[in-house]
Amino acid sequence: MLREGEKVFGMINVSDCYTLSNGVKIPCVGLGTWKGDWQTPDTGEVARAVCAAVEAGFRHIDTASCYLTEEGVGLGVKECGINRSELFVTTKLWNDVRGYRETIDAFHASMKKLGLKYLDLYLIHWPNPAAFRDHWQEYNAETWRAFEDLYKAGDIRAIGVSNFYPHHLDALMKTAQVAPMVNQIRLHPGCATDEIVQDCRRRGILLEGYSPLGTGNLLQNPEILRIAEKYGKSAAQICLRWSVQREFIPLPKSVTPQRIQQNAAIFDFEISEQDMEILTNLQGELGTQINQDNANF
Ligand code: A2P
Repeated sequence: MLREGEKVFGMINVSDCYTLSNGVKIPCVGLGTWKGDWQTPDTGEVARAVCAAVEAGFRHIDTASCYLTEEGVGLGVKECGINRSELFVTTKLWNDVRGYRETIDAFHASMKKLGLKYLDLYLIHWPNPAAFRDHWQEYNAETWRAFEDLYKAGDIRAIGVSNFYPHHLDALMKTAQVAPMVNQIRLHPGCATDEIVQDCRRRGILLEGYSPLGTGNLLQNPEILRIAEKYGKSAAQICLRWSVQREFIPLPKSVTPQRIQQNAAIFDFEISEQDMEILTNLQGELGTQINQDNANF
């Protein structure tokens, strides 16, 4: 157990920040808002989750145009009682949009739904959509040029990608003037594709982890439950603490206030190196990173 206020791995609570390669601060844990299925989410429920998260100390909210939660997040941001400048909001460009003009338009459509004047982080959601597979490199280059212009104009404070493997980043960097600051990929115990993690670290790209609880799959895992009992924490807290100790930004999704509070309470203990290894190497039905080059979306 740590003494009160003791700093582990540089972070003391969910609003404590890493610094991106452009100097922008990003809180070390964020609230996820993907429902986990493709049904339309309840905007009021999403807004209430954002308010509960802010109440629990969260200052970082993650959404995407395809999650259909941008309105709910925008409403929550408006109603949560915290200044916009204290919050870090991310959204993502979906796979049906590529190209310069199209990207600018999609960005403004997202901003309208969010009801925000500026965005903290904008991500290309996937590198190689099925609809653009014939020339994905060129499409991404034009899309990234739009990201860069929005960034230079001050509409976005940081830009990045999601689900990009090293070869997607190599292709992007052939024409990029501004390097991505973030790569958001699937990261949780049993799923931390070393090739991507090491590559991003070499490039100075910060890693965010979506589905940090394996969309819930990890919460019944016997090994995680055993470790959770040992530390007197929940399985969710063990998963999130593992992310923090690996210096990934986990984005746990929850619409349940008690769980949101629990997911913020992960800074008063430390997982031993041995247990970290066990968690990293977990096997089973936990979920894996998707290589989009041959996916049908
Ligand atoms: P809910 O939103 O109903 O609270 P992931 O972040 O990996 O996608 O996992 C999200 C899933 O995990 C959701 O079903 C969410 O349920 C559930 N969840 C989030 N936090 C907790 C927690 N602390 N304890 C149990 N379940 C949780």
